[in-house]
Amino acid sequence: MAVRVVIGGQWGDEGKGRLVDLLARDARAIVRYSAGNNAGHTVINERGEFALHLIPAGIFYPGKVCVISNGVAIDPAVLLKEIEGLESRGVSTENLVLSDRAHVIMPYHVAIDRADEALRGKAAIGTTGRGVGPAFVDKVGRLGIRVADLVDPKALRTRLEFVLPYKNAVLERLYGAEPLDFTAVYECYRDYGERLGRYVRDTALLLHEIMGDGGDILLEGAQGSLLDLDSGTYEYVSSSVPSSTAAGAGVGAGIGPTEIDEVIGVYKAYMTRVGNGPMPTELLDETGDILRMEGPRPEIGTTTGRPRRCGWFDAVASRHSALVNGVTMAALTRLDVLDRFPTIPVCTAYRVDGKLITTLPASTSIFARAEPIYEELAGWQADTSKVRNLADLPEQARAYVRRISELLGVDVGIISVGPERDQAIFVRAGEAP
Ligand code: IMP
Repeated sequence: MAVRVVIGGQWGDEGKGRLVDLLARDARAIVRYSAGNNAGHTVINERGEFALHLIPAGIFYPGKVCVISNGVAIDPAVLLKEIEGLESRGVSTENLVLSDRAHVIMPYHVAIDRADEALRGKAAIGTTGRGVGPAFVDKVGRLGIRVADLVDPKALRTRLEFVLPYKNAVLERLYGAEPLDFTAVYECYRDYGERLGRYVRDTALLLHEIMGDGGDILLEGAQGSLLDLDSGTYEYVSSSVPSSTAAGAGVGAGIGPTEIDEVIGVYKAYMTRVGNGPMPTELLDETGDILRMEGPRPEIGTTTGRPRRCGWFDAVASRHSALVNGVTMAALTRLDVLDRFPTIPVCTAYRVDGKLITTLPASTSIFARAEPIYEELAGWQADTSKVRNLADLPEQARAYVRRISELLGVDVGIISVGPERDQAIFVRAGEAP
């Protein structure tokens, strides 16, 4: 029995869904353990291309248990749409289970998310506007509505009778927004609860049953560790409790930390970021456009459709996330996007006010002034998309992977060279890039 966690090592969109799709083969259960439908995975397999927001990427393997666990905030409308979208394309959701302890994103969360961004003005976070942050604020503030309430009409009514007037007061008095109608919200969410009821159970117990039976578990993080409330680039982070880092996986799934065997950190071969906040290696020129648009899949957000900010690999920020997650193996994705460059800069330190720093500053104002110090690595200018063995990668590409691995302080075990399931190189034990 093994429990593995897959986390994003940067600002999200590192290709975790693609990795989970690959690794799910060996697992009995695949679990989404944090965040909400602010996350988005694109998975391409023999059935086509799919955008997933809440359902674990293991859903494409028949017979695997796919769990949305207690740490996730779910928008029932989004989840039902995702279920219907998969079913209509012949992907069964029979083995999907939803935790009765997961929190529910309500319409006032979406309204508050947008109103709050407007109120922040220039200091806006650039959220996905899906109500995820406000739902976690309510979780911590003990105002949340959980799936256990959603599927019990009486409990839902009682809870909503207290929470909705409270939230309407916030909407009206703080944001000057329209209040929501009790009957409309109650009836709509009661119906969602009725439709989702068949998926709901105590998922922590289910996972422990599977583990007791010797089954492997794959815990799928959402977003990236640099968006984490504690370890990330605060305040330009995502609100999720528990955190999307490896340490949050146990809390979010109801599994103790002693049960976790492996932490796989997924890193893109360069950096991307959506939303606001400092990004020292961001390229605002034509090279940034090339990184964004010239790969087989353009760098456009799966959830919001926003173009991603692109830049060179930032080893300072990435090493920070390897450290705080206890990453045991790194997966390097989208190496093929770098195929055309004659040289590839990697940021190994920052210069701030004339001083060199090699660790991620806590202060946003310092991070905003950080200028990247680059080490120039030789490009390979050859097509890597068809390479399946490490030995067949051009020497410069191997040197690039080797250097990233040194800078992260972690071995790179998987390299992806394209979006298709088979476009991956597994580094065998004893084989070094
Ligand atoms: P929120 O999670 O919608 O509150 O947004 C907070 C920040 O996290 C914004 O910069 C979002 O763009 C970013 N963010 C949230 N989810 C993801 C994700 O899955 N990928 C990349 N960025 C994300």
